[in-house]
Amino acid sequence: MISWEDAYRTTPPWDIGRPQPAFVGLVQAGELTGNTVLDVGCGTGENALYLAHNGFSVVGVDLSTRAIVAAKAKAEERKSKIDFRLANALSLEFQSGSFDNAIDSGLFHSFTDNDRISFAHEIARVLTRNGGYFMLCFSDKEPTNWGDHGELPRRKSKQHSPHCSISTTSRMHTSPRESTTTVGELI
Ligand SMILES: C[S@@+](CC[C@H](N)C(=O)[O-])C[C@H]1O[C@@H](n2cnc3c(N)ncnc32)[C@H](O)[C@@H]1O
Repeated sequence: MISWEDAYRTTPPWDIGRPQPAFVGLVQAGELTGNTVLDVGCGTGENALYLAHNGFSVVGVDLSTRAIVAAKAKAEERKSKIDFRLANALSLEFQSGSFDNAIDSGLFHSFTDNDRISFAHEIARVLTRNGGYFMLCFSDKEPTNWGDHGELPRRKSKQHSPHCSISTTSRMHTSPRESTTTVGELI
């Protein structure tokens, strides 16, 4: 499987050059509360940039150096103040209760079952007590190799985190085609 870093040698299919419509919809519907947002696995930052443009204080983290360099360049070009950092979402350096919201566009589904549990705990830790986690991920019916560990169609988690429940569904846009996805909320 291609590494995340290698994926950003060119424009990967999820990097559509604009925010995912599902997150635009969440903002327009007033679903994000408070002021602070953590974008986990932010990539080149389109979702984070959209949120910052709409008044949120945003931190974006990603494991890929290329993605973070590109995200920082976009923020500078658009005169947007976003804290883009190289970081591992499974081991975040933020204090507990640092964020009102966390968004995840395409990260959760790339983790193994064990990492999904660690991730859920880490996200729950950095969120405020009533914070919301908004996730856009590929459907288990989506046949693709991305983050899939070779299983087709995509895996459902074999374990369930006590922190997770799915509240709504939406579609993830990719280029050149579109995929069925889910937006979930961690409670
Ligand atoms: C499918 S991409 C989505 C990127 C971005 N959210 C978007 O919508 O364009 C998943 C992103 O998660 C990042 N990633 C993978 N594992 C990670 C981890 N453990 N911690 C932080 N970022 C990670 C990858 O480098 C990649 O940028």
